[in-house]
Amino acid sequence: MDHCIVYVSSAVELFTEAELATLLLQSRHHNSRTNITGVLLYVHGSIIQILEGQKDVIDALYSRIEVDSRHSNVTLVIDRPIVERQFSFWAMGYETLTTCQLEEIKTLMHLEKQPQNSRASTDHLVLKLIRTFFHDTTEIRFPATT
Ligand SMILES: Cc1cc2nc3c(=O)[nH]c(=O)nc-3n(C[C@H](O)[C@H](O)[C@H](O)COP(=O)(O)O)c2cc1C
Repeated sequence: MDHCIVYVSSAVELFTEAELATLLLQSRHHNSRTNITGVLLYVHGSIIQILEGQKDVIDALYSRIEVDSRHSNVTLVIDRPIVERQFSFWAMGYETLTTCQLEEIKTLMHLEKQPQNSRASTDHLVLKLIRTFFHDTTEIRFPATT
């Protein structure tokens, strides 16, 4: 069974377009080789990233991302097995959000401070909400298996 993690973080300095492009290029290259899919959402220095794949591969990547000096306050909000991938066509999709959309996601994430048995449904809602903000444009589409 695949695994999914979602973390939030803050860019230490705002990424320039060129820096973001380089990060996405490198991430897509690495992720497609290791069959990781997901999406990076970025707005005014706030980052939300979803990573899907084999658990040990995801854990290894997350331990590198966690110590990456380009961002700080890296906080894991979802860490669970998944029945199916939500972003299976993207080695690393990218989308920017409005501040309002970011707040919506964060509000839903905070609802997670609840008993363990209701977390699975909230996790599902967070992923679904992010999926609706992630537009299927050919520009960012990138095959996961090349
Ligand atoms: C916000 C953010 C997201 C990242 N996402 C990925 C990713 O999806 N895949 C990836 O290979 N590296 C990603 N990286 C880069 C890793 O942190 C790391 O630099 C890269 O895996 C190379 O690690 P290494 O120099 O230890 O080999 C990301 C970095 C940041 C700051």
